[in-house]
Order: sequence, then structure tokens, then C-alpha cells
Amino acid sequence: MKDILTLGIETSCDETSVAVIKNGREILSNIIDTQIPIHEKYGGVVPEIASRNHVEAISRVTKLALKEAGIEFKDIDAITPTYGPGLVGALLVGVSYAKALSFAINKPLVGVNHIQGHIAANYLTYSELRPPFICLLISGGNTQIVHVKDYTEFEILGKTRDDAIGEAFDKVARVVGLEYPGGPKVDKLAKEGEANIKLPKTHFENSLDFSFSGIKTAVININHNNKDIKKADLCASFEKAVTEVLIENVQKALKQTNAKSLAIAGGVSANSYIRNEILKLQNENLKIYMPDMKLCTDNAAMIASAGYYNFISGKRDNLDLNAIPNLKL
Ligand SMILES: Nc1ncnc2c1ncn2[C@@H]1O[C@H](COP(=O)(O)OP(=O)(O)OP(=O)(O)O)[C@@H](O)[C@H]1O
Ligand SMILES: [Mg+2]
Repeated sequence: MKDILTLGIETSCDETSVAVIKNGREILSNIIDTQIPIHEKYGGVVPEIASRNHVEAISRVTKLALKEAGIEFKDIDAITPTYGPGLVGALLVGVSYAKALSFAINKPLVGVNHIQGHIAANYLTYSELRPPFICLLISGGNTQIVHVKDYTEFEILGKTRDDAIGEAFDKVARVVGLEYPGGPKVDKLAKEGEANIKLPKTHFENSLDFSFSGIKTAVININHNNKDIKKADLCASFEKAVTEVLIENVQKALKQTNAKSLAIAGGVSANSYIRNEILKLQNENLKIYMPDMKLCTDNAAMIASAGYYNFISGKRDNLDLNAIPNLKL
């Protein structure tokens, strides 16, 4: 059978990324042009600045991705951009570029949901992984337990009712004086601390939903009222409390669905404490999957992998494809 090459384009937030993937599983190139140093001085992503930088980077990053993969435009089978969720202006750059390219080189256009992409990062790490499985999706803008029934069929079993877990990590980081992006810095500092501070954990009756606003506020208040508190202890206690809630709900989801495989995905799945604790769940009845660290945060390889599965399932988009900032799975 002929190989299928998908060109993934990711511009939903502050990474301009383009990748070439073979048959949904093999990374031929994955160029990630991060804007983190640009947004660092503002303490977070400035949407207008992100869009402008995507415009400046997108052609260059695409050419690099083709060069590194050793292919030309004519070799591509489908152009697969992220069209949501994300920042609308940022998404529009990738979507518009993909549409223009699709028209110019006469290749199919297949839109990809960014969350579907995060889940697909697991397919790039484990060649044997196939649906069905449960995926704990923990990212900067989303927190969900997803039943991945097939490559393009998803059921959301639980989700956050307020903040995403990544937002909570970034907020805690800011409160204890760590700079944006704070998640990885909380991860590092927590290793020097003890989880000895009691923090609230929110549970919902008969539901797999999450809430992280209570714990976030508790961290803010404790930090404010106890000037001598060890920041490392606060970070370790925060990580432990949120991980316990994640694991409790995941275990309910596994029981409910009788699933034998659990994957994690999204930027926060790079967290070393969470990875360790999730790995402890592995036993003869449950196999754990975690994406390579580089594939946890935003990248176009995961988008091109999800794009491949959309493409072979027959999904096609027209030139009226639009960016949808609150796109659901
Ligand atoms: N080691 C880590 N520990 C904790 N959080 C981390 C770690 N590494 C990255 N993060 C967090 O992951 C988030 C970024 O992840 P991701 O790239 O998936 O988010 P996003 O694309 O902004 O959101 P979404 O994917 O929901 O649209 C940030 O909140 C960041 O702080
Ligand atoms: Mg993301």
C-alpha cells in the first residue's frame, strides 16, 4: 500500500509548528518555533502578538518541515491544520495558510481538533497503541477524561467545571514567584519540597467532573497569610492534591468502561510527579501510555497524526473551513 504523508499545521497558541508524518505514526519532521521568550516578559500569551508572530514564521517553518522530511509539496497527501480550540487570531493564521496551500497545490484539506491531536501524541510514541482506551487529557486549556472509542470517535466522561489544570499550575507558579510558563517550574521546585500542607480537593457526586478553582484560591490564600511558608512545600502539596483527584476520577472511569489501557496527554502530562503516580496504576489488567516529553506540549506532529486518521476515515474540508476557538471533541 502507498504511504500516506500528512502535513500538520499547529498555531493554536504560542507555538508555530509544522510536521510531516508518515501513515499517522512515523515522524519525518516536527519543527516547533516557540514564542515563549517573546511572551515571557508579559507573564502570559498576548493573543495579538502571537498571531503576528505566527504570520511571520509559518512559511519558513513549513519549508523547514518539508526540507527535514526530504519531500516536496507534491508528495503531501493531505494538509491538516488545527482549527480549534485555541486563540482565534492564532488559529486563523494556520487555517488560512493551510487553505491557501490546499488551493495552490490542489491537495485535500482536513481540519483537526487540537485535543484530538494531544491524544494522538500517544500513537507517535507507541506504535502498538490502538483504540479503545481511556485518555486523561490534562492541558493548558482543558482537563477531560475521554473514552477514545475509535481514532475519530470520542466520549467525554468527565471535564473541569472551571479552570483547566494547566491554568491552575500556571497560577500557582505565579503566586509563588515563578515565571511564565510556570508548570515546568512548579514541577522542578516541588521536588525540593514536602507535601505537608493540607489543600482542598473537590469531588462531585456521581460525576467524573473536576474543579480546580478551590485549590487555586487556597494556595493563593495560604501563600498570602503565611509569609514564611516554604514555596517548594506549597508546590509539592498542590501537585499531590490535584494528582489524587485526577487518579480517583480516572479509576472510576476505568471501572465504568472496563478499559484495559490508560493514556495521558496534554502539556501537563509532562509533569514528572503525575507521570510517576499514573505509572503506579499499571498492573496485569491495565497498561499505561504516556507521550514522549517533547510531544506532550503543542506540536504539529500530533496534529498530523490525528489528521491522518481523519483523512483515512474520509473527512474532508472546503475552503470555508473556519477557526473555532471553543471547538469541542
Ligand atoms: N512539567 C510540567 N508540569 C506541569 N505543567 C506543565 C509541565 N509542562 C507544561 N505544563 C503546562 O502545560 C500547559 C501547556 O500545555 P499545552 O501546550 O497542552 O496547553 P495549551 O495548548 O495552551 O492548551 P490546550 O491544549 O488545552 O489548548 C501549561 O499550562 C504549562 O504550564
Ligand atoms: Mg495544547
